Amino acid sequence: MLLEVKDLVAGYDGSRVLNGVNLSLDTGESVAVLGRNGVGKTTLMESIMGLVRPSSGQVLINGIDLARKPPSALAKAGVGIVPQGRRVFASLTVEEHLLISARKRGEWTVKSVMELMPRLGERRTNLGSQLSGGEQQMLAIGRALVGNPKLLVLDEPSDGLAPAVVGQVGDVLTRLRSTGLAVLIVEQDLRLAFDVAERVLVMQKGEIVHSSSTAEFRADGKRAHALLGVG
Ligand SMILES: Nc1ncnc2c1ncn2[C@@H]1O[C@H](COP(=O)(O)OP(=O)(O)O)[C@@H](O)[C@H]1O
Ligand SMILES: [Mg+2]
Repeated sequence: MLLEVKDLVAGYDGSRVLNGVNLSLDTGESVAVLGRNGVGKTTLMESIMGLVRPSSGQVLINGIDLARKPPSALAKAGVGIVPQGRRVFASLTVEEHLLISARKRGEWTVKSVMELMPRLGERRTNLGSQLSGGEQQMLAIGRALVGNPKLLVLDEPSDGLAPAVVGQVGDVLTRLRSTGLAVLIVEQDLRLAFDVAERVLVMQKGEIVHSSSTAEFRADGKRAHALLGVG
């Protein structure tokens, strides 16, 4: 198993957010985590990445527990993160973002990322502050890719983007999926989640309360509505 999260408990200043999360993701698999605002999706992603320190539980990458290890250890083990809000630096250029993140050798280089997302090539000398939301999102994805991850973790990549731009992000993710890259994606945009993921998990109050194939989840609209409070 590429990623296994076992009984993960985490929170902030004594308030518990994750109440024992269990999930697993196979090599090359893609899984979406859905759930209403505030249920703990970002806390889960940040606990996996070492940005939030879980109080108990395990985050196994290829069988090795990296819970409570720093983000650099997760990156080294092959996990790339595209954080909620993108976190692009205002005063670095597109190319500088990619160069400082290019650690591991592999298929993804500054050049191949710009081939995948030509807009980044066109904007190569522009500063983060000069990019549109969609361009920043592409850059956040490119920055994770140049680390040559085995698993890409994305936290609400559609956030704040116009529908056409969400479609472009979806196209990029679909192409990455076809290369065998595993994806763990948190999304509010169900269309994007369904396009990218084979399997759907739903979180409520810091726990995974539903797991099914994407097809099964889509076929039972009533249940989806009950779980998410959306159509
Ligand atoms: N840095 C933080 N400090 C304190 N509380 C936080 C912090 N980040 C999130 N929370 C709280 O943790 C809960 C879960 O938040 P979050 O993981 O961001 O949920 P989601 O991503 O599902 O919207 C919320 O009640 C939120 O207010
Ligand atoms: Mg969130």
